[in-house]
Amino acid sequence: MQNRRVAFLGIDIGTTAVKAVLVDIEGKIFAECDIEQTVLRSNIVWVEQDPVMWWENTLTAISNVVKLAQNSKYQIEVIGIGLTGQMHSSVLLDEKFEIVRPAILWSDGRTTLQCQEISEKIGLQRLKRFLGNRPVEGLTAPKLLWLKQNEPRNFERLKTLLLPKDYVRYRMTGIVVTDHSDASATLLYDIYRKSWSADVLDILELPHSILPDIIESVESAGTLQENVADMCGLQKGIPVICGGADNPVGAVASGVFQQGLIQSSIGTSGTLLMPTDTLNVDKELNLHNFVHCKEDWWYQMGVILSAGDSLKWLRNILYGEKSETSYDSMIKEAESILPGSDGLIFLPHLVGERTPHNDSNARGVFIGLHAQHTRAHLVRAVMEGVCFALRDSLEIAKEQNHSFTEIRAVGSGSLSKLWRQIQADVFNLPVTVVNQFAGPAYGAAILAAVGQKSFSSINEVVELWTNFETSSEPNSDVVSNYDKYYSVYRNIYPSVKASFQEINSLTN
Ligand code: XUL
Repeated sequence: MQNRRVAFLGIDIGTTAVKAVLVDIEGKIFAECDIEQTVLRSNIVWVEQDPVMWWENTLTAISNVVKLAQNSKYQIEVIGIGLTGQMHSSVLLDEKFEIVRPAILWSDGRTTLQCQEISEKIGLQRLKRFLGNRPVEGLTAPKLLWLKQNEPRNFERLKTLLLPKDYVRYRMTGIVVTDHSDASATLLYDIYRKSWSADVLDILELPHSILPDIIESVESAGTLQENVADMCGLQKGIPVICGGADNPVGAVASGVFQQGLIQSSIGTSGTLLMPTDTLNVDKELNLHNFVHCKEDWWYQMGVILSAGDSLKWLRNILYGEKSETSYDSMIKEAESILPGSDGLIFLPHLVGERTPHNDSNARGVFIGLHAQHTRAHLVRAVMEGVCFALRDSLEIAKEQNHSFTEIRAVGSGSLSKLWRQIQADVFNLPVTVVNQFAGPAYGAAILAAVGQKSFSSINEVVELWTNFETSSEPNSDVVSNYDKYYSVYRNIYPSVKASFQEINSLTN
């Protein structure tokens, strides 16, 4: 007779993979599974995915963790499910809740004109007052305007707008709903009143009826339907907790819901997430101001579009996509290069850039190449360039007199000791790591545990489940060297911006 153990299931609808993780009541991971996903790129700026693929991959990922758990010495009973996923990506459903067209993703750059239109129609002062955010290509509202102007038939068919995790939850439960953290990142949401912004919907002439009800991230959003439960080996009726957007849910998992802490995530994209309990938007709205998953908390965030992806790109062009060369061995070579890469600087804007430039024409740059530079210099310069780009967001936050004590490093980039040290030295802050880190999927399991009422608060679970350890302290000599490199880095974008535009008109 096996011992019975209760567990929570966290699911992350990421861009490169759907991840499922089964966590026990003490926070230990029983089983995890990643199912890789592809993106559709029909031109240089379009990035799309089929929501049905997310759903099928979710079913496979759940079935796999359930099977893995069955092989353990325990009899696992899942008592709560939580969800998270990529932010801003638009799931467009018709009146029968069928997909109207592929989802337009957070990294898609087609909406520059629509962003300009929104800025002109609403103006900076009203953007600050109504939304606390400015239009950038990745957000959801500009995508709706693009659809209206470019695919009017699809726009006519659109009856419900969802975010990725909400679509998957709809397939699990039959219930249509979203949470505040994802809603706040659509550019259709009033972050002060914590509701959809009727003003903005009216100005943009978008129907209010397409927007789902909004509930808290730890609220129950329905239960698992019988047919779905049968498909993946679970019991029907398990409570499905609403969950939230991947960055704040990741920050739940890394305990980043206190002033002074920063979550730095280097995955496909790179983000610096800075929680706050008082809304204080920056002058130019260069940082996002969104709602956290912990009640009465918000966060400011800067986003760079190619973080881990810059290193992936370099690996693919140096060694070939199918090469066996590991990131570890590439990074090992880079360890022998001194901070500053002997004068080589990289701008990681490979697919345009969000914070702080909001420029879909921006492109990657290596500057300072010398005949003596080697492959290892390129690798180190890419790792440093990603950190310089993230530092731009830290500088904007510091201009608002925010001060910080610690960086919590997450994402695949945090697995590299060298990348963590570069972060400590570029940000001049100690870097800590989270033990047993399964990222946003683990955060979704935490929300499930609170929502299912096994615990009374997010704080209680994080205190029990999560440990942090300091990994890298800033080295003062390197910090002052990087300060000098960073001031050179900052001047490069303004001096090549016009060339980006010219290049874009030549290549389009
Ligand atoms: C955040 C953003 C990305 C996605 C990645 O604004 O666009 O970090 O959430 O999934």
